[in-house]
Amino acid sequence: SLVDKANYRHFMAKEIHEQPEVVGHTLARYIDMASERVMLPVKLPFDFKDVQRISITACGTASYAGYVAKYWFERLARIPVELDVASEFRYREAPLRKGDLAIFISQSGETADTLAALRYAKAEGVHTLSVVNVPTSTIARESETVLQTLAGPEIGVASTKAFTCQLMVLASLAVAAGKARGELSDEDEIKLVHGLVEIPRLMAAALTLEPQIEKLARDISKSKDVLYLGRGTSYPLALEGALKLKEISYIHAEGYAAGELKHGPIALIDENMPVVVIAPHDRVFEKTVSNMQEVAARGGNIILMTDAKGAAEATIESLVTIVLPDMAAAFTPMVYAIPVQLLAYHTAVVMGTDVDQPRNLAKSVTVE
Ligand code: G6P
Repeated sequence: SLVDKANYRHFMAKEIHEQPEVVGHTLARYIDMASERVMLPVKLPFDFKDVQRISITACGTASYAGYVAKYWFERLARIPVELDVASEFRYREAPLRKGDLAIFISQSGETADTLAALRYAKAEGVHTLSVVNVPTSTIARESETVLQTLAGPEIGVASTKAFTCQLMVLASLAVAAGKARGELSDEDEIKLVHGLVEIPRLMAAALTLEPQIEKLARDISKSKDVLYLGRGTSYPLALEGALKLKEISYIHAEGYAAGELKHGPIALIDENMPVVVIAPHDRVFEKTVSNMQEVAARGGNIILMTDAKGAAEATIESLVTIVLPDMAAAFTPMVYAIPVQLLAYHTAVVMGTDVDQPRNLAKSVTVE
């Protein structure tokens, strides 16, 4: 067949491992490697200077890519961003105004709710831009502007490589927006783009953590519930980690903003519920450390995904640490997605579930 599993046991494993390559392809489409500047493959029919607000709409994993992008657009371009899941956006009659840009994210380009949301935005007369993996899809055909992810065919129902490619496109777009609005200098742009250029190599380095994560998955597979915590862009990644785990291993998992721990999930902490903390050593790291202390004080078992600096500073007892490579703080979710995906994958393998076709789920939800 056109797409096979090569030497992998599941498509999902193959797709996780393909990420350095396909994210690299996507990067090459949006970045001019020689000058290390963003270079979009299409001319935008609007100027980011005139964009007053961005609304991002998607479903499932694509919505978490959108959630990460919200942080990027707000931080790098100072554009306020609203984020919705498509099933809510399409019915809540969100007021859209001239000067709004509506962004839709979809691997398949066929998700019914996302398509309906796109049609709603078009009818409201705002600019529409879609990030899609299938260029011949309905969402691609109906959008004013299409930015393609070059993930290649994704067969595993649980999205992996499409997600990181979506992040690469959205990161490039956020840098372009920051540049166009004068929020980023030439120097800032070069620095940020340099950070993006490093991503494929860092993803490959993250993949070498697989044996450690495989071992950890054996412990996770014994749990009934798992909590994922993160702050900043690691928060949507925590949501994605919980989604991945529950989708394919059927273990209940929840993602939470680490700062919300005190407002609910702390009541559930005990030795039976592992807490996965995603915390690169960034500007909110210290805050996350104090959340980990709260978890540890209640006998919770923590799995910390961080970098060398974070590992050195998180002086908490009985902590399992997964040490990722050092990298520019802006774009960590693409690299931290790797251990998050691998943990879900290997847990599902231990559980013996149908990893590529989990029960009750469809690759593309084309009916409401
Ligand atoms: C389904 C899939 C998910 C995917 C979501 C959105 O739920 O199982 O992996 O993230 O649909 O799909 P789309 O094709 O719009 O990205």
